[in-house]
Amino acid sequence: MCAFPQTKASLDWSNLSFSYMDTGSRYRACYRNGSWDAHMSADKNITLPEGSQALNYGQQCFEGLKAYTTASGDVVLFRPDMNLARINRSARRLLMQEIPADIFMEGLERVVRENYAFVPPYGHGASLYLRPLYLGIGDNLGLKSASEFLFTVYCSPVGPYYKDGFKPIHLMVSDYDRAAPHGTGNVKVGGNYAAGLLASQEARQKGFAEAIFLDATTRTYIDEVGTSNFFGITADNTLITPVSSSILESITRLSLVEVAQSMGMKVEQRPVALSELENFVEAGCCGTAAVITPISHVTSGERTYQFGDGVSAGQMTTRLYERLLDIQLGKDEEFSHWLHKVI
Ligand SMILES: Cc1ncc(COP(=O)(O)O)c(C=O)c1O
Repeated sequence: MCAFPQTKASLDWSNLSFSYMDTGSRYRACYRNGSWDAHMSADKNITLPEGSQALNYGQQCFEGLKAYTTASGDVVLFRPDMNLARINRSARRLLMQEIPADIFMEGLERVVRENYAFVPPYGHGASLYLRPLYLGIGDNLGLKSASEFLFTVYCSPVGPYYKDGFKPIHLMVSDYDRAAPHGTGNVKVGGNYAAGLLASQEARQKGFAEAIFLDATTRTYIDEVGTSNFFGITADNTLITPVSSSILESITRLSLVEVAQSMGMKVEQRPVALSELENFVEAGCCGTAAVITPISHVTSGERTYQFGDGVSAGQMTTRLYERLLDIQLGKDEEFSHWLHKVI
């Protein structure tokens, strides 16, 4: 007996954008007095006490990962164990109760199963984006950690994050800082993203696809893009990607590093100076939402760096992208252990 509907929603799967859709079912787990109480909910609204730490003091964190329909029809998650580890790093940083692995995984799996109708079928370049969200809640006034927590997982079927998909984008170096060293830039907390909104808007108003941030101390090294990590590729096929205490450790980037090595590329993970951009023949950004998005140009003040012909995606970036898609769609043996089968 199958506990979930077998039919698919009537959606234009090949033309989905990266936007919210109410799919009708989400997971909720509440931590109170030392124990977790979980259920599925049809209600997209959450009612919280007005004093909740998540609302007043930003005591909240989240994750983002995708479910894919593979070539053989399975529905899989890409490295959810890494998201579990990361949300608990975020939780520890914000003094929140850690989420047990069984609660986290149950949330992901039930949301995928119960929203099977919204998991895009194979072959449309679309996926089901899952958003685990974790909130400190309760009747509170002063600045202190919550003692009750709400963990929820909701989802939306999505297409590409950037509207043109795998097409090179032009980034603008922001004058704003996103996160400080020893701050919260290396964990996935809402405040980091609110801090980047103005930078992003400014970049878009000037005609760029997105802002890219520098390190806040010296403003000479590349940190990351709003929702993805940066990488560059040199003429001798070395993939170079920034290490910084104020960027989010991208699961896609960690994966890409292993994939690049398996493809025979050299990899350097180290601070990357803005001035080094002139050494790159290809560049890109990577993340769950952005997948791999090639970068054609980066503009910093009066100076514009161009990668390759400035129009098309570079050869190695394209190969990495195709290999990553093959892995996520269950068409790659070597990295098949990264897939967690749900259906
Ligand atoms: C700030 C930031 N950097 C990088 C990433 C990419 O991380 P991942 O590959 O784990 O999605 C994300 C997205 O989660 C992000 O929000």
